[in-house]
Amino acid sequence: MAAAIGYELVDCGDGRRLERLGERLIDRPAPTAADARRSIAAWDQADLRFDRERGWTGGDEAPWAVDLDGVRLELRPGTAGQLGVYPEHVEFWPWLRDRVRDRPAARVLNLFASTGATTLTLAAAGAEVTHVDGARGAVAWARRNADLSRLADRPVRWIVDDALGFTRREARRGRRYDGIVLDPPTYGHAPGARWTIDSGLGELLDAVAGVATEDAFVLLTAHQTGLEPIDLAAALAAAFGTPGEMTADPIVLTATSGAVLPLGAAARMIRA
Ligand SMILES: C[S@@+](CC[C@H](N)C(=O)[O-])C[C@H]1O[C@@H](n2cnc3c(N)ncnc32)[C@H](O)[C@@H]1O
Repeated sequence: MAAAIGYELVDCGDGRRLERLGERLIDRPAPTAADARRSIAAWDQADLRFDRERGWTGGDEAPWAVDLDGVRLELRPGTAGQLGVYPEHVEFWPWLRDRVRDRPAARVLNLFASTGATTLTLAAAGAEVTHVDGARGAVAWARRNADLSRLADRPVRWIVDDALGFTRREARRGRRYDGIVLDPPTYGHAPGARWTIDSGLGELLDAVAGVATEDAFVLLTAHQTGLEPIDLAAALAAAFGTPGEMTADPIVLTATSGAVLPLGAAARMIRA
């Protein structure tokens, strides 16, 4: 696989995003990129493009790799336009590392953990991570990313399961976590489980509260239009009571061109 040299959002607009991911420039859909594009000429340079009608076009669809703030990830053009990387999560990694460095061998539960970038960041910082995703393929991909990042020897439990069902079972087993990271999608799907974030978020956070230590940290992110940072903070407060610290922010990537790409909302709390 080719070497990797990082990430850049070059431009976005007119419903699309143009990103340099390692050695390739990718043009793909971005429904929240509502304004006009700014760097018009740059878009002609794209190596690969995705649209719903034609799928991927432009050339070589072989996997390649990107280095993101200390982890190396395999990128693979997927049938729905996904690549296996969520660069908008990188901005939370310094906060997570700080939480983990405060607590030697912190136990962290990462739900909807997908291809594992945040899991590997936590593991590299010294945490014992339980990585949960409902898709077997995503967990296998995350394990390849652990190999690529030279972190396969770190204490990570790789679990294919429904996040809600698994968390409830952990509570019954008496397991507790110093930190919980969760990025629930709009529609939850896993073997034997289907729910939506609209109706299921409260239940999910109640389950999370049931496995959190008294001074746990929680990072909740969501990418659903209409779920604002204040809604996520309110949902956390409803499940945990008033925490010691709470911050809530929009998730935004700013392109080199100056264009802005909104990608959801985040709320972070430290219980006590
Ligand atoms: C948008 S991705 C999360 C991105 C991830 N946080 C990251 O930064 O790499 C959503 C993930 O949730 C998983 N998922 C969907 N429903 C699930 C469920 N009920 N239980 C566990 N994982 C689920 C999907 O397989 C997918 O990998």
